[in-house]
Amino acid sequence: ERGQALPRDLVGHRVVVSAGGTREALDPVRYLGNRSSGRQGYALARVAAQRGARVTLVAAHTADLGDPAAVDVVRVGSARELRDAMHATTADADAIVMAAAVADFRPTALAEHKIKKDGSEPPALPLALNPDILVELVAARRPGQVVVGFAAETGDASGDPLHHGRAKLARKGCDLLVVNAVGDGRAFEVPDNAGWLLGADGTEEELKPGSKALLASRVWDAVATRLG
Ligand code: CTP
Ligand code: CA
Repeated sequence: ERGQALPRDLVGHRVVVSAGGTREALDPVRYLGNRSSGRQGYALARVAAQRGARVTLVAAHTADLGDPAAVDVVRVGSARELRDAMHATTADADAIVMAAAVADFRPTALAEHKIKKDGSEPPALPLALNPDILVELVAARRPGQVVVGFAAETGDASGDPLHHGRAKLARKGCDLLVVNAVGDGRAFEVPDNAGWLLGADGTEEELKPGSKALLASRVWDAVATRLG
């Protein structure tokens, strides 16, 4: 879409986007993390600002990305920090997009000192379940607020990516769910950035393969429709 004028349909709206992958500390030098680059969340924030929204970007760990122009950036590390930042910034937001890759689990305890390998038995790594931030934001949603989730799904024996996406939309209770179909190397080989945009109102829009900026535009189109 570079060079094309974007609609200014988000003027007067405040939006909060989360991006990147959380890191769950294990000891002073180690963490559990994931491979999220943050690029999709940054594209969502950038495009929203270009369309006139006031944008807060809550960024967990990302690749080395430049801050999008005219966006407030809040940096977080762990899932629990991300949760606190989301609750602190979304009370008066018109739309919330959870593009961050939130670690499902964290080490139960943060070791005060670096864990040493003494002896032959590796230590067990007890894990605790992290809060489901998206579910919490849906529960705290104020009237008119639009909440968007993301899901990367492969197919498996119990269904294809779209089947899993529909179930996740129902479970999360958000207004929109972006389902990225990710190939599992066998039956469901599809590009990473194609999928579906599912609405709680039953709408299902196929997302053709395209750039992260283009996907961001499709998401904001759907949000703008719901903001009225
Ligand atoms: N999410 C969240 N808090 C979590 C986990 C996920 O807010 N603790 C959000 C993600 O940011 C994303 C959506 O929920 O917008 C779906 O994430 P996903 O990992 O696909 O869902 P899970 O419920 O964790 O299910 P799964 O077992 O498939 O990982
Ligand atoms: Ca998960």
